[in-house]
Amino acid sequence: MKFKKLLAVAGLGLSSSFSSFAQSIVMNVQAGDPKLQISKHIYGQFAEHLGRCIYGGFWVDENLNVPKKDRLRLDIIEALNKIKIPNLRWPGGCFADTYHWRDGIGPRNQRPKMLNGTWGDVVEDNSFGTHEFLELCSMLKCEPYLAGNMGSGTVAEMSNWIEYLNLNGDTPLAKLRAQNGHPDPFKVSFWGVGNESWGCGGNMTPEFYADQYKQYATFAKSYPGAPLRKIASGANGDDRNWTEVCMKKIPVDQLWGISLHYYTLPTGNWGKKGPATGFDEQAYFSTVKNCLRMDEIVAAHSAIMDKYDPNKKVALVVDEWGVWTDVEPGTNPAFLYQQNTLRDALVAGTTLNIFNNHCDRVKMAELAQAINVLQSLVLTDKEKMLLTPTYHVFDLYQVHQDAQYLPLKFTSPDYVLGNEKIQALNASASKDKDGIVHISLVNLDPKKSIKIESGIDGVTWKNATGQILTSAKFNDYNSFDNPNKVKLAPFKGAKKRGNKLEVEIPAQSVVVLALK
Ligand code: AHR
Repeated sequence: MKFKKLLAVAGLGLSSSFSSFAQSIVMNVQAGDPKLQISKHIYGQFAEHLGRCIYGGFWVDENLNVPKKDRLRLDIIEALNKIKIPNLRWPGGCFADTYHWRDGIGPRNQRPKMLNGTWGDVVEDNSFGTHEFLELCSMLKCEPYLAGNMGSGTVAEMSNWIEYLNLNGDTPLAKLRAQNGHPDPFKVSFWGVGNESWGCGGNMTPEFYADQYKQYATFAKSYPGAPLRKIASGANGDDRNWTEVCMKKIPVDQLWGISLHYYTLPTGNWGKKGPATGFDEQAYFSTVKNCLRMDEIVAAHSAIMDKYDPNKKVALVVDEWGVWTDVEPGTNPAFLYQQNTLRDALVAGTTLNIFNNHCDRVKMAELAQAINVLQSLVLTDKEKMLLTPTYHVFDLYQVHQDAQYLPLKFTSPDYVLGNEKIQALNASASKDKDGIVHISLVNLDPKKSIKIESGIDGVTWKNATGQILTSAKFNDYNSFDNPNKVKLAPFKGAKKRGNKLEVEIPAQSVVVLALK
């Protein structure tokens, strides 16, 4: 029993290193002549006026006893700075198509209140608006990605917001920005034209949306020093027709990107998604299986885009992804608050590997959502704050940001449960500006480790170091009482033999290796 405990403390997990047995594969890493870059923007985040993401998350009550600047919570900002988040999407989500930007500027005590009818009919006091969001982005050292209101706004409203943000000039809107404390243009570049326009953003057909997009995009101007990267509201998961129609009807030079939303539901059923904690292996299996579908979904939309944009100028922007479970019992169902387990970290590692491996087309993505909503990086309870297992994956994977993509070749062993099987191993690799090769490996099998013998072509390296994220159980999570149950640990399972890398990846783990 003592030995079991020791293994758990070492972050190795009993099931992964004691009762398991290894399967062996050969992997080839082609590090010689990289042709593609993994955009750092794949590692983006999403913050909506939903539940406690903004209010009670990033933006707290004046009386809350935590370090803050104005009402921005500094411990959260410090944690996110550590993982170098490249962009933050705001204000929604569905909320974006109900948001009128003028309500969120000027003296706070004069801002009108509104009902957030999308998320629980709570009163939105607009104390967090454009300037507060952009101050947050500057503290996070990340790029803002704004979603403009197409659903219930107007062409003029969106166009005026962009002028307010980005024009360095003598117009009433530029002067109003200065009067509100920001004489210099904000230079916002990423611009979403609507959100989920097939659903909460207006229940449009793709044909109608594409026409609307062209109208809105015409008046969404690039001002000097602030070129706009316009992103069309894209498909819901498998809806390939949406991408087909938009790509056919919207000229490629009017698009920087087109989005895609795909959430991993444990059961695959929106009516009963499954709990965030306390699930069994069947639920674990179906969750990771549903997560792996991201690969075929991205590939299918990419293939459609290739027909209209063979030079891959238009980015596929997966601006909402993550595990979506039933809410935590006893919490407001409209607030989408859920716990976050090792399983979710494995989903994050797998999804990020998929995006890295599609970096020719996927240039941007945002996890939903940063704080206290869905698959969060950070959870808070008043003054308390914890980092989720998913946060640690983003910490591990930051090495891939803007690194050169390295193709991998291997055949994964199967993870078998009952009559079903999926690939147990997924991976991606990159070379950074100092020539260090990083390989991120996810073993989804909860019982068997995987031994890999790997040839690394095209680079010389002396040693392999690494870090691992795992835990004794796939449904382990960090709670406010035990905030470090699932945490990173040094990984000692990799060695160099001749020119080969030999590594054993424990069951249910994410490992990132650095070859120097
Ligand atoms: O992320 C939560 C919601 O999911 C977003 O508001 C919406 O775009 C999607 O349906």
